[in-house]
Amino acid sequence: MAEFMTGLKRTGYVHTLTKEMVGKQVTITGWAQKARNLGSLIFIDLRDRTGIAQLVFDADTDPALFEKAATVRAEFVLAATGIVRERAPEAVNPRLVTGEIEVAVTDLRILNDSQTPPFHIDDKVNVSDAVRLKHRYLDLRRPCMRDMLLMRHRIAKIARDYFDRNDFIEIETPILTKSTPEGARDYLVPSRVHPGKFYALPQSPQIFKQLLMVSGFDRYIQICKCFRDEDLRADRQPEFTQIDIEMSFVDEDDVMTMNEGFLKEVFKEVLDIDVPTPFTRMPYAEAMARYGSDKPDVRFGLELCDISDFAKDCSFGVFANSVKDGGAVRLICAPAGHFTRKEIDGLTEFIKMHGGSGMAWIAPGDDAHRSSLGKVLTPDELQQIIDLAGAKTGDLICIVCGKSNTVYTALGALRCHIADKLNLIPKDQFAFLWITDFPQFEYSEEEDRYVAVHHPFTMPKEEDIDKLDNDLGNVKAKAYDIVLNGYELGGGSIRIHDRDLQAKMFKALGFTEESAQERFGFLLDAFKYGTPPHGGMAYGLDRLVMLMAGSDNIRDTIAFPKVQNASCLMSNAPDFVEDKQLDDLKIACVQEQDNDEA
Ligand code: AMO
Repeated sequence: MAEFMTGLKRTGYVHTLTKEMVGKQVTITGWAQKARNLGSLIFIDLRDRTGIAQLVFDADTDPALFEKAATVRAEFVLAATGIVRERAPEAVNPRLVTGEIEVAVTDLRILNDSQTPPFHIDDKVNVSDAVRLKHRYLDLRRPCMRDMLLMRHRIAKIARDYFDRNDFIEIETPILTKSTPEGARDYLVPSRVHPGKFYALPQSPQIFKQLLMVSGFDRYIQICKCFRDEDLRADRQPEFTQIDIEMSFVDEDDVMTMNEGFLKEVFKEVLDIDVPTPFTRMPYAEAMARYGSDKPDVRFGLELCDISDFAKDCSFGVFANSVKDGGAVRLICAPAGHFTRKEIDGLTEFIKMHGGSGMAWIAPGDDAHRSSLGKVLTPDELQQIIDLAGAKTGDLICIVCGKSNTVYTALGALRCHIADKLNLIPKDQFAFLWITDFPQFEYSEEEDRYVAVHHPFTMPKEEDIDKLDNDLGNVKAKAYDIVLNGYELGGGSIRIHDRDLQAKMFKALGFTEESAQERFGFLLDAFKYGTPPHGGMAYGLDRLVMLMAGSDNIRDTIAFPKVQNASCLMSNAPDFVEDKQLDDLKIACVQEQDNDEA
């Protein structure tokens, strides 16, 4: 039967047991990592949140205690009281903080037993993710997962401290609210009191933080949950956490400088890394032209090269027509890849997976060049491309043509793929970059109208305000994203604080006065009462932890994450509810049992 803690007090965590503690009596608690019975001696590794210490039981000293220790199995919960002593020199374990000492136990309580866990609690666990996630509470016992959550805690604490020191106030905003304008699908919560009406879970606190600026809380921070019903990826969860900030009486530069200070501090404190500030600022158009991405990984080169000028008059009709139709022909040159034909076919497939229609290629050689364009371009034209690309023998030139954005997307992805394949990415570097001067609008083919790139409250560049009447495609926004190693870590903007300008913006986005009032009326009303100029940004905390911890999966940074199909393997959420609950909500399900086991 489980024993109790009655009359017993833990004296400290395991990691406090160093050589300085030799001779002291201690009481430590935790889980049995493993037990070894050598006949007259038993060694138990006791694990707590901070590390592992070795407990020793001697059959000659206390036979009854020895017998009790012999019943301990992996993951039993123990409280051990004993004397700290030095290990024999040959038993010192330099890998453990506590490796020079052991605890000669005088009293042991078995606080609980444990079934054999479905996997051994160890960093190098050899089971599927599904098993780990089903038993997430055990997965979190593993030191690497524990360290991830400890790091997350520290990052959040440093954020609170940094922004507090800079006069930011943490204010909570509602979870049951109205739809927010971040552009993903909402999670809805039905109202029992108002049948047929729904709350939306916030995609971000955007509107509320702007309202707080109207209220005069001129520096706001919140570490808050956000909810977006969108397709999951390695860096996306339906429920994630933002470090969300907003400031009044500022322009772009103030927000960026304040946030560079935060990132500098958090990297120094957590990883002891000095990140140089200010970070490079790169206009969106330049990022796209050089890297084919608005979140480029600038730890390596492999930049795009636009050969549209050459291509428009070349003898290959597909290239020439792409440019004539308003598209582009661009390339990247993979250095010294010495790619085989099979590998090149693989790259072509990769381009197709990322929206490109195909890939042309040239592999320059000393005597002859290999190329998919040998039959459609003259030798002189091939040589011109090789010269434009600056390619050498052994390199591979990958060329994509088509609509400009399609070419960017495909080559931007290929650039990262090839860099990874050729080991060109210095994994220990952190390359921060601000992307600025975003377009205010993008044309949505689906909706046949311009939509906001950020959200409808983003301030256009002052010099572009006139273009709101007739030149939406060329309006730039006072918006900025912070990018780290190819990930969008955060983003924000200066907001529109002028009512007339906001009305103009809604009009440009196709809202009627009534529909704007219907969706954002409470914000527009508030803006009638003295709104200060303001702006802010939000980080994805989960992404920040992921990058700082060197992980490539956001799930690792979240205690209880969802999997690809937005379900939780441990709790089985989402789940069916009782008919009575649906009746109360006046909800009838048209389709049941769908997606249940997905
Ligand atoms: P945005 O929509 O760019 O801006 O979100 C800010 C940051 O939140 C993170 N993020 C996510 N992280 C994990 N899973 C997701 N599904 C997910 N979606 C977004 C990203 C992103 O950069 N209200 C604005 C901010 C502002 O303008 O102040 C907003 O939410 O790291």
